[in-house]
Amino acid sequence: MMHFHTTWIGLLATLPSALGFWPIYYTKSSSPYRNDAPTVQVETLFQFPNNGSWIDNLALRSDGSILLTRLDTPEVWSIDATTGHATLVHSFANATSCFGISEIDDDVFAVVVGNFSTKTYKPTPGSFTVQQLDFNNFQATADEQETQKASVSHIAALPEAQALNGMTSFTKESHLVLIADSPNGVAWKLNTQTGEYSIALNDTSMLPAEGQPLPLGVNGLKMVDNYIYYSSTTRMQFGRVKVDQDATPVSDYQIIASGFLPDNMDVASDGTAYIATDPQNSVVRITPFGQISLVAGGQLSTQMPGPTSCRLSADGKTLYVGTSGGQVAPVLGKFMEPGKVVKITLE
Ligand SMILES: *[C@@H]1O[C@H](CO)[C@@H](O)[C@H](O)[C@H]1NC(C)=O
Ligand SMILES: *[C@@H]1O[C@H](CO)[C@@H](O)[C@H](O)[C@H]1NC(C)=O
Ligand SMILES: *[C@@H]1O[C@H](CO)[C@@H](O)[C@H](O)[C@H]1NC(C)=O
Ligand SMILES: *[C@@H]1O[C@H](CO)[C@@H](O)[C@H](O)[C@H]1NC(C)=O
Repeated sequence: MMHFHTTWIGLLATLPSALGFWPIYYTKSSSPYRNDAPTVQVETLFQFPNNGSWIDNLALRSDGSILLTRLDTPEVWSIDATTGHATLVHSFANATSCFGISEIDDDVFAVVVGNFSTKTYKPTPGSFTVQQLDFNNFQATADEQETQKASVSHIAALPEAQALNGMTSFTKESHLVLIADSPNGVAWKLNTQTGEYSIALNDTSMLPAEGQPLPLGVNGLKMVDNYIYYSSTTRMQFGRVKVDQDATPVSDYQIIASGFLPDNMDVASDGTAYIATDPQNSVVRITPFGQISLVAGGQLSTQMPGPTSCRLSADGKTLYVGTSGGQVAPVLGKFMEPGKVVKITLE
């Protein structure tokens, strides 16, 4: 059993000293990694007005707009990629937070919803469900017009999960999504049509690291070419495992890169990963061979405090980054800002 009470709170209390624990913080530059494309354009596409706003995850719609989930309130928002105009899509009742989000059919998204305190960092085990947002043919009534942008339905509750987190869609034909359960160190597979679910991936590399204050193991997931890529936060590892058509592992779990604090990520079709490093205030690029370079931000930089998630545009030229504003570890112990969506033009 994990002890959330001491562990999730413990992260907050120990992060400043944890900076000493993780040796890569001891560098004079703001990042230990070389920036091999220092001219990328970085701009804020949208920012919430209030400190405490915490973007947990992003998904892109086929019209190019960006969906974001919030951890501090059970909301999903849509951001226009051209104007940065933000619209509330839905606020879920009976929950505090939204987590992973993934497209499961054309313009239909599955969203992880559950209870989590951004003050104590305690999730409520057993409170997690997966809900559906369908943007097709949605006809809002006059009353709903202002607040509702998609039809909402319940897919499944996963009472055995301790804290569901990142999610990726499996093959379209299978109707499966895979969802990280961070404290349990497993990924569940859920059939979004039948609601059936079971554990698909379970490996030591997905478990929270021992002796760490935070029971945060597997966090982000992304399926590319029969591989499930995953970040394992307190183990400071990024890895992958090959799976068959039922999402059953058919290879060893392979660690691709380690030594940084990975939150959610995206992986391009060639296996290049873009990973948000949350308390390290940066986005890094990882080649399929495990070489790490800095894309933007940096430990001591206020460019993107607390990046939680990354999504590559369909053409691979733009990277969107969602942030918490640095709530887990304010930059230099001090600087915090409202959560925002950053647009990075890669070429
Ligand atoms: C989750 O949070 C909501 C909103 O605060 C609350 O109504 C609900 O009882 C909580 N559920 C559980 C299982 O704690
Ligand atoms: C609220 O969520 C809890 C936990 O997921 C569930 O048991 C309960 O039925 C829900 N209540 C309502 C009114 O939906
Ligand atoms: C994962 O596998 C281990 C080893 O077989 C097992 O002890 C553990 O209970 C599994 N985890 C879950 C959440 O089922
Ligand atoms: C957010 O908090 C910082 C302190 O870290 C403060 O300087 C800033 O004014 C706050 N911003 C807003 C919008 O309240």
